[in-house]
This record gives sequence, C-alpha cells and structure tokens, in this order.
Amino acid sequence: MAAQAESLQGAPFGTRFTRQMAICRFHDGAWTPHEIVATAPLSLHPGAHVFHYASACFEGLKAYRWGDGSVRLFRSDRHVERMRASAELLCLPAPPAARLHAMIEQAIDVCRDEIPPAPGSLYIRPTLIGTETNIGAAGTGSRDAHLYVLLSPVGDYFSGGARALRILIEDRHLRAPGDFGAVKAGANYASALHHVERARRQHAADQVLFCPGGDVQETGASNFLLLDDQRLMTKPLNEAFLHGVTRDSLLRLAADLGYTVIERDFSVAELLDWVQLGEAALSGTAAVLAGVGTLIYDGREIAVRNGAIGPNTERLRKALTDIQSGTAADPYGWLKQV
Ligand SMILES: Cc1ncc(COP(=O)(O)O)c(C=O)c1O
Repeated sequence: MAAQAESLQGAPFGTRFTRQMAICRFHDGAWTPHEIVATAPLSLHPGAHVFHYASACFEGLKAYRWGDGSVRLFRSDRHVERMRASAELLCLPAPPAARLHAMIEQAIDVCRDEIPPAPGSLYIRPTLIGTETNIGAAGTGSRDAHLYVLLSPVGDYFSGGARALRILIEDRHLRAPGDFGAVKAGANYASALHHVERARRQHAADQVLFCPGGDVQETGASNFLLLDDQRLMTKPLNEAFLHGVTRDSLLRLAADLGYTVIERDFSVAELLDWVQLGEAALSGTAAVLAGVGTLIYDGREIAVRNGAIGPNTERLRKALTDIQSGTAADPYGWLKQV
C-alpha cells in the first residue's frame, strides 16, 4: 500500500533505521553469540545462497512507547514461532526461540530513545538469509546463515487521514506457491509484485486481493476480512495464506465485542454480494485494519457499501490500537514490557 505509506518526519515507511541492530551467524552447525552492532551494510559473497536461490524470510512486529515512557512489544511469541516455521520450510537453520526473543529485546533496549511516541511506533524486522557461498546449491539448503534484527521507527500509518482503499480482485493467479503461502518468505512477495505493480499502474489500485479459482484468500501484504454490524467473516487458516497475528487478534476482539466470528471459505461472488451492505478490510501489523472502499473486478468498479470506511472497521481498529497504546487494558496478555 505504497499510496499511503507511513511517514515520520518526511521519511516513508521502512526507510529510517535505528543506529544499532542485533546480529548473529549460523556456521559449522552452530549459532555464534549475537551482538549489537551499528546498522550498516553487510559484507556478503556474491555467491551467497540468498542471492541465487532466495533463501530469505523475515518477520514484521511492533513495539509501542506508552505515555509514561515505557515500551511494550506486541505478541512477539507469535512472530518468533512464525519465523521458525518460515526457516524450516526454506531449509534454513531455525533460530532457537529464546535466542530470537533475546535479540529482539536487546536491540529494542539499546535503541530505546529512538522509539517515537504514539501514534508512532517501532517496526521490528527480524531477517534470516542463507549465506553459504555455493552457487551449485540449487537443490540443497544453505548451511550458513545470517540472522539480524533491524529496527525502523515509523509514524502513524494514517497520518494525513485514513482513506478507503482500492483493491483489484485477481481470480486466476496465486500470490505464492500453494504450500508456501503460510510462511513469510521474501520470494512470496517477489512472486506477487508484478500483479500489484500492474494493478497500481492500470487501475490506481492500492493492492491486489488474490482469489485463485474464485477462492478469496489475502492481499499481497495483508489478510482480508468482511464485517457487518453482527458478523466478522474470513477464510479459515490453511497453508495457502499467511496466518496474520493481527487477524488472530481481531478475531478474538470481535468475538469478545459480541460479533459472530465466521471462519469459512467464500467466493468472489459471495464477496461482491456482501459488500452491497457490509464492510471489507485488510488486516496486518502495519495497517492494523484498513477499510476497503472500492473493489475492481472484471473491468468494473464496485463500491463497498457507500465507498467510505465502515463503522465496524473503525470500531475494531480502535479496540486493537487502544490495547496497543495502553489506552485500554490488555486482558489477553498480548503486550510484554521490554
Ligand atoms: C501476505 C501477508 N498476509 C498477511 C499479513 C498480516 O500479518 P500480520 O498481521 O502478522 O502482520 C502480512 C503482513 O505481514 C502479509 O505480508
């Protein structure tokens, strides 16, 4: 959703970094101790596995500075587990959970004074890449790896005002290979990219909703939810799409707010029917819950309800951001003070 990229002092989302990051390597069958180093270019051999065979995965999570100056990390346990699953599927050494937690928390600790207050936050990007120097290793996993935790201070995603998104429905192509959708591999984003670029160019769309064979799955960078005054509906978890931590959080919140939560497969035809009266929204760490105003399908533009962000989208978004910012209690134990 580049069209509404966050800005912090004029810097687009993800282009500003803290002075330091955490890093370690996997070599000779073991992880080296991790260190805090300056955020600076890495020196890698041009024959490194990642440059040829895309052995790369990452995570994206956030930490929030509360009004009293303390810092809270949101559901890092879920992100660490997802990164370990991504590593396994990419045949990369899976970082031990305790190690990854320690790297995230120590990196935050040394960069504490660079975390912006609300509505800004610290976007955390653990990254794992295969660094074995071997261009003949097309059919073997990288035996060496670098693991680092990069930190980016970010502003409010909706600075300048939230606007309803334009989403192109793509009903032929997959976002990612069938068994890879549930992991956060860089290659998945690469394979979706040309669809997203084309949608932007040809339709001024913000994102593409992948619905192979009519099965509504997710967009190039977020999960997809339908809402109305009583219900929240989304696809049930399977290996074709990313199991968003935000999706999971919103489902829990919605149920506790009295919505009926429905996890079932649905078709593009049902989606088009739903949005005559109901709402559609994208969920993810960066966007939280972003309302969809227009769907583009088969050369037609279809308004989602009246084309504006819906009240249930606003309500659920606020319920989650209130917990994250400390304005509301956290009965779920999602936040960890760091
Ligand atoms: C493809 C895709 N789906 C879903 C999500 C939402 O995941 P999460 O809520 O864990 O950020 C993301 C964002 O990271 C994503 O890139």
